[in-house]
Formats: sequence, structure tokens, C-alpha cells
Amino acid sequence: MNYNDMIRYYTEEKRLKETVKISEEELLKQRDFIGKIRKFNEDYEKKNNRKRTMHISTFGCQMNAHDSEKLQGILEEMGYIGCDDEMKADVVIYNTCCVRENAENKVYGNLGYLKHSKEERPDMKIILCGCMMQQDTVIDTIRKKYRHVDIIFGTFNLYKMPELLYTNIMTGSPITDIWKEHGEIAEDLPSVRKYKYKACVNIMYGCDNFCSYCIVPYVRGRERSRRSEDILKEVRSLAHDGVKEIMLLGQNVNSYGKNLGENITFAKLLKMVNEVEGIERIRFMTSHPKDLSEELIYAIRDCDKVCKHIHLPFQAGNNEILRRMNRKYTKERYLELIGKIRKEIPGIAVTTDIMVGFPGEGRKEIEDTIDVIKKVGFSNAFTFIYSKRTGTPAAIMEDQVEEDIVKENFNDVLKALNEIILEINKEKVGKVFSVFAEEVSMGNSEFLTGKTDDNTIVHFRGSDDMLGNFYNVKITDCKTFYTVGEIVEEN
Ligand code: 5AD
Ligand code: SF4
Repeated sequence: MNYNDMIRYYTEEKRLKETVKISEEELLKQRDFIGKIRKFNEDYEKKNNRKRTMHISTFGCQMNAHDSEKLQGILEEMGYIGCDDEMKADVVIYNTCCVRENAENKVYGNLGYLKHSKEERPDMKIILCGCMMQQDTVIDTIRKKYRHVDIIFGTFNLYKMPELLYTNIMTGSPITDIWKEHGEIAEDLPSVRKYKYKACVNIMYGCDNFCSYCIVPYVRGRERSRRSEDILKEVRSLAHDGVKEIMLLGQNVNSYGKNLGENITFAKLLKMVNEVEGIERIRFMTSHPKDLSEELIYAIRDCDKVCKHIHLPFQAGNNEILRRMNRKYTKERYLELIGKIRKEIPGIAVTTDIMVGFPGEGRKEIEDTIDVIKKVGFSNAFTFIYSKRTGTPAAIMEDQVEEDIVKENFNDVLKALNEIILEINKEKVGKVFSVFAEEVSMGNSEFLTGKTDDNTIVHFRGSDDMLGNFYNVKITDCKTFYTVGEIVEEN
């Protein structure tokens, strides 16, 4: 979507929807700033015989990755081109995450390195944005210890980046612009998609669940759903551009539609997206087990394009830990839910998020987690060590677990998981799957990497002209996190 389309989009959005508060004038103003910076960059290119460059580092989840595509889209409209080495780029953006401490530490570490580049090239612009910036303590630290940062903005005002950059270029003064409110939906800015054939579509923003360990509800704000017709419009436009696989994104897609004033649920939305011509696969994440409805299970079962894979984070297997996490389900209820899903959709792959080291979690508690792993048979899992986040209820719980116990428990969880994942992959050897060729394999340009409907990663021999197509691939070998196969016959 280019900037003109974006303006048109927002104009229509504004007519249609109360929740969009970003005015047409405001967006035209931003467009004007883009034009001005573009002019600067064109003059620079004439004088220096090179284009100005940008580098964006993205931390955290798919939401951030999607926001970075928008930032890249805006920068490209300004005339910047990509640069692999951030130390040499003219504009460096860190789109940050604060879900775990190590992601934050990495940002601080990288900023330290960038200081030298900024000293050598004072024209370089260092921009920080994303979830980490929604915390006052972070802003204080950056302004005190990392004075070479030029611009800081947060998760609610990404669309304002052109104005902030222009103002900084003109004044040379550092800018911090963080909004604490979360009423607006600033969506569909000009965006550059990393992949031609697959794309993410935000269906909602924010989270109202307040799991006791999680900072997301504080930095991403309250749940806000996009109107179904806007989502469909975007999906249709992506399909028109050649996109075949859509990933619908939200922190908790199951509560899609609440407070929207439309008679809509996530299940209904899936059915509507399933009708979009050109789209061949639909994925979504993330579902919360507490409110996964039967209606949704039936929709996954009945929609031919919806992949037979569900990502359903369970976090921990012990009921007392789950209660203290404020997850609002028990181990039994989770297992029951998996049973129900599998009964309706035999063969569906289930993946999950698991957290180890939540306050109060000892040996007995971790055994419950391992029990769930064994009973469910996850095809894959994201495993996290609990990270204490200031401002969350869990951060002040007394029984924080010692590091060596956490590490031991974490290793046991990984061991149980890896054994099961490998077993599940082994069962695929010798079978033929329809694989969507998504990218050239990293490290071996003669191979492509793709995914089956049930989210299994498959490497198979192929060339880049085959990307974006489906192939019947027979799995010949497997490791824990991927499989290898060969094409048996083209679709
Ligand atoms: N520490 C560790 N992991 C966390 N997650 C969320 N908050 C924390 C935290 N404080 C994990 C959860 C969630 C995933 C997106 O990130 O497992 O499902
Ligand atoms: Fe965080 Fe829980 Fe919301 Fe997920 S559902 S974003 S873990 S508060």
C-alpha cells in the first residue's frame, strides 16, 4: 500500500469507524513530512552520489515484526534504502520488546556499540520505538545514559515517525514522544512486506488478560478490534498482490470482536477470510485457552483454507501456578480442550508457549508441566524462562525461584519437549505433504524452506523461481526442529 492508498484508506476508515481518532489532516501532515525528507535525501544523493540508508532491528513478537514492515515502508517512501550493517546506516531503528529482560539488555548493549558510530557520523539518526519505550524507567535510563539517541516514540504513535524525524533533522534536538493512551488504531501505514507470498494482518491490538507475569497489557493497551470489513479489505488487497498465505495476528484472537458493536466473533471472521479468492492458507495466533469456543473449533474444522494447526499457550501445568498466573484455566481444563479439538479435527498440530521459573514453581510443579507436555504431544513450543517485569503483580510475589533451580527445570522441560517433537516428526517420514515454498534455505541456496499445513518446517531441493508455490513433498528425514524432503510431483 503506498501513501496515497493509505490516505484514502484512512479517509474511509474515519467515516466508517469511531475508534480511529487519527484525522485525515494529521495523516496528510505526515505525508508532507515524508515528502520533505524525500527531498532532503534526493539532494543528498545528487551531492554525494549515494542514497541514504536505513537499518531496522526488530525484537520480540510478530506484532513488532509487522510494525517494522510499516516503518520500513515509511522510510522507503522517504528514499532510504536498506543497509545490512547498522553501524554504517544513516537511520538506525530499534523496534524494541520488553516481554523479557534479555531483549531489553540486548537493546542497551547495542546502543553502547552505536555510540562510536554516532560520534564518527553525527548525522546518523538513532531511533527507538516499540514496547520497551512505553515504560517510564526505560525513558529515564536512555535519556540519562544513552544521550546519543535522537528519537524515541512508543507503540501508539508509530504513524507520527515522519514528523518526529523531520523535526529532529531540522532542530538537531533529541525528541521523546510517548503516548500513554490507547484509544487509537493507527493501522495500515505504508508497508513493505518481507515476503511476497505471505503476509501478516493485525485483527486486533492490545490485551485485557493481565496474566500476572506479563507486561503486554501495560505497554500495548486495552483490546481493540479492527472492523471485519477493514480486515477483509486488506486481505483482498493482499490477495490481489499475489499473497497466498495470511497470518491473522492478535494477542488473544479469541476475544476478537468484543466491544466492536458488530455481531462478529473470531470464528465468523475466519469464515469470511476463508472466502477471499486467491488466499490459499490462513493461520492465526495467538489463542488463549480460557476462551477458545466450540464455534472456533468448528470453524477451523470446516474452513478448507484454515491450517490444521493451533498455537495454544499453556504456560504451566500446575493449577496453583496457573491460578497465580491469572490464566483462568486448570491443567484438566486445558487437556480437556485439547481432547475436544483433536476429536473434531483429527491430526491437528498443537504448539504452545511454556514458561519455567514462575514464582513458587518447584520440582513438584514442574512435573505437572512435563506431564502436560507428554499428554498433549506438542509439535513445537516456545519455551521461556520467567523474567521479572517491574510493575506486574508477579514481580512482587515473594517466592521468586533461584536461578539454578530454574535452569535445571528448564532443561528437563526442554528434554521432554524435544523427545516428543522428534517422535512426532519421525512419524512424518515417508509421507507426502503439500508444502508452501516460502524462502530460500539459510545456508544452502540450493534448498527451499517451506511449511506443511500443520506447520512442519520442510527443507527441499529447489530454486528461488519456485517460491510462492505449493509442492507435494515426501519427507525423507527429520531432526527435532525441521524435516527434509523431496518433491514427488508438482501441484
Ligand atoms: N517472562 C517470560 N516469558 C514471558 N512471556 C510473557 N511474559 C513473560 C515474562 N515475564 C511469554 C509467555 C507468552 C509469550 C508471548 O511470552 O509465554 O505466551
Ligand atoms: Fe500477556 Fe497474557 Fe495478554 Fe498473552 S494473554 S499478552 S501472556 S497478558
